[in-house]
Amino acid sequence: APSDPNEEYYNTLTWSAKFFHSAMNLPEGKTCYDYFRERGILPETISAFGLGYAFDDWDKLHHAAQKDGISSEILSELGLIKYTEKGQKYYDAFRARAMFPIFSPGGKVVGFGGRILTGQKDAPKYINSPESKIYEKSKILFAMNFAKDEIRRREEAILVEGYMDVISLHQVGIKNAVASSGTSLTTEQARLLKRYTKNILFIYDGDAAGIKAMMRGIDVLIEEGLHASVLTLPDGNDPDSFVREEGKDTFLSFIKAHRSSFLDFKLQVLENDGGFESPEATTESIRALLESLSKLPDELALEMYLKELSQKLDVGLSTVQKELGKIQNRRRKPSRQPMPSSYPVEAFPEPL
Ligand code: UTP
Ligand code: MN
Ligand code: MN
Ligand code: MN
Ligand code: MN
Repeated sequence: APSDPNEEYYNTLTWSAKFFHSAMNLPEGKTCYDYFRERGILPETISAFGLGYAFDDWDKLHHAAQKDGISSEILSELGLIKYTEKGQKYYDAFRARAMFPIFSPGGKVVGFGGRILTGQKDAPKYINSPESKIYEKSKILFAMNFAKDEIRRREEAILVEGYMDVISLHQVGIKNAVASSGTSLTTEQARLLKRYTKNILFIYDGDAAGIKAMMRGIDVLIEEGLHASVLTLPDGNDPDSFVREEGKDTFLSFIKAHRSSFLDFKLQVLENDGGFESPEATTESIRALLESLSKLPDELALEMYLKELSQKLDVGLSTVQKELGKIQNRRRKPSRQPMPSSYPVEAFPEPL
């Protein structure tokens, strides 16, 4: 049968995933297996997620690939090996790392994340496969293949930051969790979520970076008409650490008790940053909130949120509506009067 032109790429990725996974059964891979076990990951979870080990060696994967007739060019295109001009040879890109295969929503391996195992200071904690014709990062959410049925069933997706967060949640039976894997959420990822549900619960890390990422991520979601809510974890926790320390039931009741709407979350974050301490700060905060709300495609929902905002901040509804109108006009203008493409950009300075 005439095959998919990408078939060899997928075969190479599957072969690599098996190579990493089976390495955990070897003596060299035992430290990695023990690492996962010490983090509370059960053997069946290791199998289900296809977790693996990249040898502490410069070319073990490449040698094994050559023996099995796997193309070096394709391995290289997929970022699994790299070429050194100086040494005139390939070397393995992932070395001495715990390996997380990344799957497409359909369940094909498209790339890898690799976590450092030792306390090396100068190496990044995680490295990830580069973009390739198979792995378009902006379109992938980690574990969507495992989560999609449960997301439909529960009519909600839980969005977390990391590989370990997803894996720990799934292990305790919270299987509607997917991860954005540390990158900022994209419109394509929002659309992927929308295929399965409208309701998204953010549970990013309870640190400044996590909160900032949720502030931005909310806008991406609501622009696609998704319903975003947020759970803020106590500082220093992420879903993995929280569920391991507190257990599933406490985690679920914590969600029930502390989840908030995206608007309440934003109000709270702004308040914690002193955003309502003076009339000037308040003005800026309201504009920022309206900037977000202006992305809502549903006019009725927009109306409801404007009312809520006006009540909670004790600002007249008509004032809020007028300000929103300004933001909307500013946004509409460029499309009404498209800039002639032959004009130099300098001819159109930014309006004040
Ligand atoms: P975190 O730094 O929160 O890591 O990054 P983590 O998942 O809690 O890691 P553990 O628990 O220490 O193992 C969250 C996610 O961001 C991406 C990874 O996808 C990670 O899971 N990340 C993080 C990177 O891609 N590179 C990095 O250097 C760090
Ligand atoms: Mn070797
Ligand atoms: Mn983090
Ligand atoms: Mn973690
Ligand atoms: Mn984390």
